Amino acid sequence: MMNDFITDKKAELIYKGKSYSLPIVIGSEGEVGVDIRSLRAETGLITFDSGYMNTGSCGSEITFLDGEKGILNYRGYSIESLAENCSFAEVAFLLVHGSLPTREELTVFSNLLGGFALIHEDMIHFFDSFPVNAPPMSILSSMVNVLCNYYPEMTENPLENIDMMAARLISKVRTIAAFSYKRSKGLPLIYPRHDYSYCANFLNMMFDSPVNPYEVDEEVVSALNKLLILHADHEQNCSTSAVRLVGSARVNLYASVSAGISALWGPLHGGANQAVIEMLESIHVSGENYKKYIERAKDPKDPFRLVGFGHRVYKSHDPRARIIKKACDQVLGALGISQDPLLDIAREIEEVALRDDYFIERNLYPNVDFYSGIIYRALGIPSNMFTVMFALGRLPGWIAHWKEMWEDPNWRIGRPRQIYTGPVSRPFVKMEDRSCKSSFCPVEETKPGVHCPVCKQDVRK
Ligand code: ACO
Repeated sequence: MMNDFITDKKAELIYKGKSYSLPIVIGSEGEVGVDIRSLRAETGLITFDSGYMNTGSCGSEITFLDGEKGILNYRGYSIESLAENCSFAEVAFLLVHGSLPTREELTVFSNLLGGFALIHEDMIHFFDSFPVNAPPMSILSSMVNVLCNYYPEMTENPLENIDMMAARLISKVRTIAAFSYKRSKGLPLIYPRHDYSYCANFLNMMFDSPVNPYEVDEEVVSALNKLLILHADHEQNCSTSAVRLVGSARVNLYASVSAGISALWGPLHGGANQAVIEMLESIHVSGENYKKYIERAKDPKDPFRLVGFGHRVYKSHDPRARIIKKACDQVLGALGISQDPLLDIAREIEEVALRDDYFIERNLYPNVDFYSGIIYRALGIPSNMFTVMFALGRLPGWIAHWKEMWEDPNWRIGRPRQIYTGPVSRPFVKMEDRSCKSSFCPVEETKPGVHCPVCKQDVRK
């Protein structure tokens, strides 16, 4: 399966006057690459590609995206059709198993999601050990890692148990996320209910209270469903590559996904959704003109970036951002929010940026994170939970990639090479002959006999 894309076409590489033939690989959507696996053995060369701008790390049947045309398909189905017609559970099944579920398969899968929703009661004590303001992404990553201690049988025969492990993880992550929110607020935990759908169950665990019962609103459920589907996979992004790389060392699913959650936390990746809403709020609260932020983003001397803009792969538009932008109006309307000043600022920024040469020349468009926070905020999700919401959505994708890698007969541990740029071999220096590089070293101020706190030597020696 995985080697089907290797063709008998060849690319020629000429190095030191000698010609080498490298096989051409062609994907099912016509993507073309050069297979360089034998390059080093044959030529002594390696490729240099920091940031993996041009490196295909695997063949994958899960997600196709065309950044130039703004296309995103899961298992061949367009993101638009899935977001319009499916439940998140259906899409999770599709990603993990490769085909859309039949009614019976979906019932079985949904029952598993419902049945696995509790976490071991002992794990609930862990929430008390985190500082009250601990970032929810750090809690989520830690708690997911801990799951392998409670379900070790799942990790012994991962491929035999993958259906159960996937359902267990998708279900429990939702419970962990909602519990961490309740604990951070000092509120009683609301346990999952078997009679609720995946999204309704999550919302109920987040917002129900013994003194103020939560009424599940179908519009809110439907908006959350759409957002989770749009985030469910995005091929070899930073967090998915982290899951694959960690998993390639034959690490269990829970620990691999925990690494993915950590990667997603970064403000240049999933953390951008929180950063966007904080940027829009600060523009709103300060009363400053948003154009100042656009100017700052363009200034090469200013590290500020217009968060929610730009994408490594999308160079025309992010199809997810288009769907979310449209959904913003629907959701706010359905929730009776006639006007949202943050949405107005976001729209104005987009309009101005899309006409600005700086953004046009660099192909910078709103990405999935630019408008998603506005919907999460309208749904009552606090901004420090936005990236957790992203993780809930992305989980089926991470699981699908981990599973695909484990099933790949050509699997190898992930181990990139490097171009070494450090010092060439040097004679060994004895301790007493080494000079101290410590910034604490009081070279200027010290008197004879005063010792550096780091190297313990008399620095005036
Ligand atoms: N605001 C201003 N300038 C930007 C932005 C931005 N948001 N994004 C990229 N640029 C500029 C860079 O300064 C650079 O300019 P230069 O060529 O004059 O030096 C050029 O565009 C190319 O940027 P790179 O950083 O090389 O692009 P890369 O593909 O490495 O990074 C990334 C992509 C990280 C998404 C970047 O666009 C960014 O930082 N965006 C803001 C953070 C964000 O929204 N992240 C979420 C991405 S979606 C996701 O992960 C779910």
